[in-house]
Amino acid sequence: MALPKIDPTTTKAWEKLSRHYQDTKNQHLRKLFTADKERGKLFVIHWNDFLVDYSKNRITQQTMSLLLELAEEVGLKNAIKAYFKGDEINQTERRAVLHTALRAKKSDEVHVDGKNIVPEVYEVREKIKVFSEGVISGDRRGYSNKKFTDVVNIGIGGSDLGPAMVVEALKFYKNHLRMHFVSNVDGDHVHEILKELNPETTLFVVVSKTFTTQETLSNAITIKKWFLENGSQEDIAKHFVAVSTNTQKIKDFGISADNVFPMWDWVGGRFSLWSAVGISISLSIGYDNYAELLSGANEMDVHFKETAFSKNIPIVLALVGIWYNNFYNAETEAIIPYTQYLNRFSAYLQQGIMESNGKSTDRSGNSINYETGTIIWGEPGTNSQHAFFQLIHQGTKLIPVDFIGFKESLHGDKDHHNKLLANFFAQTEALMNGKTKDEVKEELQEQEFTAKEIEALLPFKIFQGNKPTNTILISKLTPKSLGSLIALYEHKIFVQGIIWNIFSYDQWGVELGKQLAKSTLSDIEGSEIGNHDSSTLNLLHFFKN
Ligand code: F6P
Repeated sequence: MALPKIDPTTTKAWEKLSRHYQDTKNQHLRKLFTADKERGKLFVIHWNDFLVDYSKNRITQQTMSLLLELAEEVGLKNAIKAYFKGDEINQTERRAVLHTALRAKKSDEVHVDGKNIVPEVYEVREKIKVFSEGVISGDRRGYSNKKFTDVVNIGIGGSDLGPAMVVEALKFYKNHLRMHFVSNVDGDHVHEILKELNPETTLFVVVSKTFTTQETLSNAITIKKWFLENGSQEDIAKHFVAVSTNTQKIKDFGISADNVFPMWDWVGGRFSLWSAVGISISLSIGYDNYAELLSGANEMDVHFKETAFSKNIPIVLALVGIWYNNFYNAETEAIIPYTQYLNRFSAYLQQGIMESNGKSTDRSGNSINYETGTIIWGEPGTNSQHAFFQLIHQGTKLIPVDFIGFKESLHGDKDHHNKLLANFFAQTEALMNGKTKDEVKEELQEQEFTAKEIEALLPFKIFQGNKPTNTILISKLTPKSLGSLIALYEHKIFVQGIIWNIFSYDQWGVELGKQLAKSTLSDIEGSEIGNHDSSTLNLLHFFKN
């Protein structure tokens, strides 16, 4: 079943939402909370060990029911069915989108071209298990019979960001293996990492769905050369493994067939950490923890697939996001995890969200005249409070923020954790309430400022408040809860893409960059510079001379 092709702005719900926006745009959250003392309990979803509070948004029950009407009108229900069933919803690449099948239960059935793919997924999972357990236990060793101490993941984009983010996020659960990630084609990146490594005890995982990506191949070739300064051609089999759909190219590179972990066309790069692309996760935290990550994602899949829209976390958060993006014209969304472990989380989501929904052509091939993908950014709290929160509190831009926190700290330092969570709660409250003129006055009077001084300071110390936030509070950062959290955002991407009437699973914009980089490289390396605009010509001449 193809996805519906409905311009959301032509729906009845959109029209109603536009009117509703005009009627309510000046309402203040502080007033909404005063008017309804139970508001905090009204806009909240409890699910597993997650509490999702979306009450601090500029919404009323009517807003939510209109947004839900929009979801119905654009055919979200059938789209979800098509997504999970393996229909070719990535129409421009003629592919199904089935990262959800990678974390399906063994007893589930998902069909691609009439074949149930779940058994194949589990075969690869078994291979990952055996391989990672062999490396961790030391049964599988390097060419000089020494145990592995280091693992290098060579990949970029989805072949780097997901595994790197998760390995960092679950560092608490890790074993003795030191993990490294080489991604940038900048040679200084790879050479800095090689400085720390011993070829006899290092395992290299080359991850590239296509095995044609310039960055990954360049890094893999450089690393192979470095390795061959000590090891022999035969030793490569012990030290290099690959994850890819492109078996021929892997063979050409010199990696033996036994060391290949397959993946499939129906897994998009930015959603691939659940496949063998996540092998460095399994190496870092062990297969059982890796399986827990997948089962957490599967639980979120089931929640998304089976829960009524009004209580469905990815759907509700997607709709609230649409409200700001399309009616309030908010251009960005900040994602602020209150745990240092998630310090790569927003970088990871930047690819997931912006590569998926950064589109301006609708599913019928027409140019879009409404806003689509949001700009995603963020850093962990509390550091971000001392960096960019000023602009969120008192700047001119409206920036909806997701606050993500955990009830328990992993090292159990209560003193630190209470302080961290105090900031977590205080920030959303302050962003919502702001600080009124009277409150500022009273505060300054208490500090014994003179009336004249108070008058002068007042305008600077007032906070408008009314800044929207979602709070996602989870019991504990575990492989399972992280799996659910990532899957939540994946499904939010899907829902927004459906509503915006775009294809979320291709990335032609990135492909253009890849092509151009190739031809410009010939300009740099060749004797002649080809045809360019005057700016690029000047730059190339300056570089070459
Ligand atoms: O950045 C564009 C992209 O195509 C991503 O979608 C993908 O994750 C990345 O390049 C890496 O591609 P590959 O895994 O094929 O090397």
